[in-house]
Amino acid sequence: MIKVNSEKLFQKAHKLFPGGVNSPVRAFKSVGGTPLFITKGDGCKIWDADGNEFIDFCCSWGPLILGHNNQPIRNAIVEAVDNGTTFGTPTVQENTLGDLILSNHRFIERIRFVSSGTEAAMSALRLARGVTGRNKVIKFDGCYHGHVDALLVKAGSGLATLGTSTSAGVPASFAQETIVLPLNNKDAVRKAISDYKNDIACIAIEPIPANNGLLIQGNEFLQFLREICTENGILLFFDEVISGFRMGFEGAAGYYNIQPDLIAFGKIIGGGMPVGAYASSEKVMNHVSPAGPVYQAGTLSGNPVAMAAGAAALKECLKPNFYSKLEAKTSQFIDSILSFSKSKNYQFNIHQMGSIFWLAFSDKIAIRKSSEIDPESMSYFTVLHRELLNRGIYLGPSGFEVGFISEAHTEKDLLKAAEAFKEALDITFKTVKKD
Ligand SMILES: Cc1ncc(COP(=O)(O)O)c(C=O)c1O
Repeated sequence: MIKVNSEKLFQKAHKLFPGGVNSPVRAFKSVGGTPLFITKGDGCKIWDADGNEFIDFCCSWGPLILGHNNQPIRNAIVEAVDNGTTFGTPTVQENTLGDLILSNHRFIERIRFVSSGTEAAMSALRLARGVTGRNKVIKFDGCYHGHVDALLVKAGSGLATLGTSTSAGVPASFAQETIVLPLNNKDAVRKAISDYKNDIACIAIEPIPANNGLLIQGNEFLQFLREICTENGILLFFDEVISGFRMGFEGAAGYYNIQPDLIAFGKIIGGGMPVGAYASSEKVMNHVSPAGPVYQAGTLSGNPVAMAAGAAALKECLKPNFYSKLEAKTSQFIDSILSFSKSKNYQFNIHQMGSIFWLAFSDKIAIRKSSEIDPESMSYFTVLHRELLNRGIYLGPSGFEVGFISEAHTEKDLLKAAEAFKEALDITFKTVKKD
């Protein structure tokens, strides 16, 4: 694959941005080589600055559930832009998107739009603290909630670990307000709640953890969190930045039929434009400024162009059978690759939730905690990623990241991609064994 132009652009980018990128995972650090500069996307395909074509399974890390350059979204954006891009006043587009969401989502009554998933999680956290008057938050090892200071914390060893941040620049005193627990471990949750009984504002979880592999939790664990939160006056905060509008219109809350107290959204909600949102009951959201004392604001919040894009995307998602069709074609694609890899006895599995998938170089049927992922297995992903790129398949450049299938992936594209996966798997297992 020719990468001359991407290489030149990356050299230039190094003189402009830290590490040459504006978001770290884009730098290809974990797979090696040069990131591709993408110049165009259409349907499920993207093209780089050297003219290479790829079937895209990154889909901008999740927002593009309808694929690239989707016609209804494009039309909505153009129509909005024709009237200006931002006013700093209320707009009709905010009402349209807010109404569309609230009238089709049983678990929320009021919503506040912000500009990113990070902002949504950060604001939800502040709201939880404002409502409860408590400081501490429980999060789970392996769940990502954006680069919010208090949530950029991983577990150390032991059960209830007071967090130390995974980033420089986060004061220890902030991180210490965060209790990090292993996923799928009820005893750890019980112990943390008994240790910090009246000081836990919320339990934050990606109900479908999709940022450190795909660590699918049992319904029972999530139900348990609901119950223990209710018993202890703790708010249950579902970060649905990935799962929202992906696992069905009502996201993981709808899929598991669990009523969280707070939900954060991002990605799909903006139809490919920068948007996030947090939502809850009328009672809880009435604590947010100017209705209540929890301050949160934004110059570009509820931006009309982004709102129009989001509404156009969500209208498509509401069409009959949208999600069942997406899931069926994802399953068919995965089944074809898995039956091949089983016939070859490869230690390989693909975990799936709806149209989200994750490649695991392990034959464990369920992986529910980040500690169950063998970091050594990532050497397989590095080779697979390179071999797939050489065959016109684009995956996000990290073996800990999930892939996404969009409405725009046709059966023909998926058949072609599955064949490329099979060839790339053969090479991967030969190469890594030899090393
Ligand atoms: C679950 C979850 N929460 C929050 C975020 C942060 O969103 P953003 O990157 O839009 O700030 C992400 C981003 O991937 C995410 O996956």
